Amino acid sequence: QLIPVILSGGAGTRLWPVSRELHPKPFIRLSDGQSLLQKSFLRAKGLPGVVEVLTVTNRDLFFKTADEYRETGDIPMPLGFILESEGRNTAPAIAAAALTISKTYGPKAIMLFLTADHLIGDISAFTVAVKQAVELAETGKITTFGIRPEGPETGYGYIEADGTHVRRFVEKPDLETAQAYVDSGKYLWNSGMFCMTAETAMTELKKYAPEVLQAVANSLEVSRRVEGKGQYQIELDAKTFAQAESISIDFALMEKTNQAAVVSCSIGWSDIGSWNALGDLVPPDAQGNSVEGEAFLHDVKNCYIQADNRIVAAVGVENLIVIDTPDALLIADKNRSQDVKQIVGQLKKIG
Ligand code: GDD
Ligand code: MG
Repeated sequence: QLIPVILSGGAGTRLWPVSRELHPKPFIRLSDGQSLLQKSFLRAKGLPGVVEVLTVTNRDLFFKTADEYRETGDIPMPLGFILESEGRNTAPAIAAAALTISKTYGPKAIMLFLTADHLIGDISAFTVAVKQAVELAETGKITTFGIRPEGPETGYGYIEADGTHVRRFVEKPDLETAQAYVDSGKYLWNSGMFCMTAETAMTELKKYAPEVLQAVANSLEVSRRVEGKGQYQIELDAKTFAQAESISIDFALMEKTNQAAVVSCSIGWSDIGSWNALGDLVPPDAQGNSVEGEAFLHDVKNCYIQADNRIVAAVGVENLIVIDTPDALLIADKNRSQDVKQIVGQLKKIG
C-alpha cells in the first residue's frame, strides 16, 4: 500500500511575477501546456501499488488543485486532500498526513512525500528509486532521495552518505560549509522527497517534534471531513492548527533522526529554483536566446525572454531575464536570478 503525498505550499518567490500567492509555483505551466503540479500528480498516480493520492495544501488552493488533477485525465484511485488554514511549513503537513493515513490504512502504510513544484526528467529511474526507497521504508527507515551535487547551492539539504546509510543530514548550510561538502565528494543534495511508514513518521515526530505532532493531532480531532465521490477533504481547524510550530521536516526531523536512509539516484531532477532553471528548458537559438512567445531581437545574446501577449523587443543586451506578464514586468541579470525574491519582499511591504 503506497500513498504518495503531494506537499503543495511554497509560493516560489524567485519566480515572480508569474508565481503569486494565489498562483504559486506549482501552477506555473511549461511550454508543453502542463503545470509543475500536473506533472507531479502524473508522476504520483503512475507509480505501481498506489492506493490513494493525498495532497496537503492551503484551503484557498483546493478547487484550483483539484481542477488541475482532473485535467490530467482518468484518476483510477481515490483522492484525499488535507486543507491547511495557513502554511506552517512541511513538518506539520507531514504530521497531518501520517495521522490521517495511519487511521485509514494502518501504521504500516507507506507514504511517499513528493514536492509539487519540481521536475523529474527520467521517470523510469525515478520508479526504480521509489522501489528501493519503499524497501528501506518497510524496515523503519526515513528514506531520502540523494542527488549528486552540482555546486555549493545553499538552498538545499546535504546528506553525508555511506551506501544507503546517512551519516549526517545538514539543512541549508552556509556557503563555506556547502563548498567543503561538495569538495569532499561525500555529500549528496537532498531532493526534498521522503519515503516512510506512517508509524515511523509518528514515532520520530513524537521523539523530536512532539509539540508539532500534538498540535496537529488536536487540530485533526476538531477538523471537518467532507466525503465526495472518490474523494475526501479534511479541513484543518484554523485555531488549533495555528498552534503548530512553523518548521520544516528537514530541521524538525531529518537533522536529528537516526533512522535516515538515502537512495542515491540520477533522475533528471530540478527544483526549478529560479528563472534560469525554466529558461534552461527552452531550446536556445544560435545567439543563445531562449524565447517564449513573440520577441523581436537585435544584437541580443544569451537572454531568456517570456513575452505574454504584447510585443517584446530588445536591442544590444546580454544575459538578461525578461518576463513580461499582463500586470508586471521583470528585468533581471541572469547572474542575479536568485535575488528576485527580494522584490517580492519589497512588494509585501507596500501591501
Ligand atoms: N502543504 C504544505 N504546507 N506544503 C508546503 C508547505 C506548507 O506549509 N511549505 C512548503 N511546502 C511544500 C512546497 O510546495 C514544496 O513542494 C515542498 O513542500 C518543499 O518546500 P520548500 O519550501 O520548497 O522547501 P525548500 O526548497 O526550502 O527545501 C526543501 O527542498 C530542497 C530541495 O528542493 C528541503 O527538503 C531541502 O533539504 C531540499 O534540498
Ligand atoms: Mg523548494
